Amino acid sequence: MADRKATLQIDGQSIELPVLSPSAGKDVVDVRSLGKHGYFTFDPGFLATGSCESKITYIDGENGVLLHRGYPIGDLATQADYLEVCYMLLHGEAPDEKQYQDFRKTITKHTMVHQGLHNFFNGFRRDAHPMAMLCAVTGALSSFYHDDLDIHDADQRLRSAYRLIAKIPTIAAMAYKFSIGQPFVYPRNDLGYAENFLNMMFSVPAEDYEISPAVAKAMDRIFILHADHEQNASTSTVRLAGSSGANPYACIASGVASLWGPAHGGANEACLRMLAEIGSVENIPKYIEKAKDKNDPFRLMGFGHRVYKNMDPRATVMRESCHEVLKELKRDDPLLDVAMELERIALEDDYFVEKKLFPNVDFYSGIVLKAIGIPTNMFTVIFALSRTVGWVSHWHEMMSEESQKIGRPRQLYTGHTQRDFKPIKK
Ligand code: SDX
Repeated sequence: MADRKATLQIDGQSIELPVLSPSAGKDVVDVRSLGKHGYFTFDPGFLATGSCESKITYIDGENGVLLHRGYPIGDLATQADYLEVCYMLLHGEAPDEKQYQDFRKTITKHTMVHQGLHNFFNGFRRDAHPMAMLCAVTGALSSFYHDDLDIHDADQRLRSAYRLIAKIPTIAAMAYKFSIGQPFVYPRNDLGYAENFLNMMFSVPAEDYEISPAVAKAMDRIFILHADHEQNASTSTVRLAGSSGANPYACIASGVASLWGPAHGGANEACLRMLAEIGSVENIPKYIEKAKDKNDPFRLMGFGHRVYKNMDPRATVMRESCHEVLKELKRDDPLLDVAMELERIALEDDYFVEKKLFPNVDFYSGIVLKAIGIPTNMFTVIFALSRTVGWVSHWHEMMSEESQKIGRPRQLYTGHTQRDFKPIKK
């Protein structure tokens, strides 16, 4: 990191601030010493704030670049499988054959959940949103693993990470089964990660369930494309929750809660509902106008991104998967026609060009998920399942730091200055 300085001239003071250089991306001004000079920074929404140092994922929003441990997302999505990506996110390097097989066996052995966890579902209404169930039951995992967990021991942190990567698909599938009144399906150790999830989602005791290789491949690719994404809202939530030393299972539940929002992970569900509402290519111009109208809260779901001001590289891969899956499954989804025409029109419209609003990962993922039979209200659950490895990898990285301390932002206070309290005559 360079020893360059930035100088802040303020109220007759000249404050020197170190400028730190990354291995890739923008330099950062280290403002940690500002407090002792009597100032805070002010950056609601953290538009220009680096909250931590990390080696896991790099995003170049201007050029549409996404790297996991230095590997381009396009290479990983087409040449690796999800467990390989999980290994490298957690451990820093891609696994060799033995490391991969050992990791796969470890994850497989943790896929069952404590039988007592099944009872939590009985408290939900059948029509409860699956994200509500996932959030609650993931948090409940902390009640099974709290006492013997030393989060300052790296091996115990990794064991928690393996448990979460292994158990979230089981809990996700249980939420779906509960919502449709079918019995829970136990994980099977003879199936791969994506295959196991599909089997827990769609098999029934009454007959054999045949797993389509095309569907399993598409599912695994969706997991990879959603695995991690730097300091997004839900990952930042997990880091802040974990910074207090909270139980990792409870921290991941906080990530699930944050991801649920339609501006974040809830966008794939909202995008498909939007495409269904648009209904036909003829209706697209009306919705484009709504999205441009400042007085209308409507936004084109699946478009825009806080960081990408170019094409989201995941959307590019997802778009290819979309066509592959629909072709392999011989599915002809009219919503894909609406999506393709919406993308074409939006990318030519001055408003979207000027504001650099491109399709993001959620734009096509909903169509692929629908094509492989996932119900719309499970889309964000799939996103949360995929992102669990990113959340636990950032939590593990943060807890590994010697200098790790509780996160505690300050504020610009604009409320009342001190005044006397006048009690009412009771
Ligand atoms: C994810 O952070 C991550 O990495 C997230 C994520 C991950 O992997 O974790 O990538 C996953 O959350 C992807 C984003 C999914 N969300 C959606 O698709 C919802 C629709 N998109 C928007 O809500 C919006 O684009 C956000 C929330 C994603 C970004 O919001 P910003 O930061 O406010 O966007 P911006 O500052 O770039 O907006 C610039 C302008 C604004 O107008 P002005 O104030 O300049 O007049 O574009 C407008 C916005 O109002 N705008 C849109 C728009 N998105 C932004 N106008 C219409 N439709 C949209 N979708």
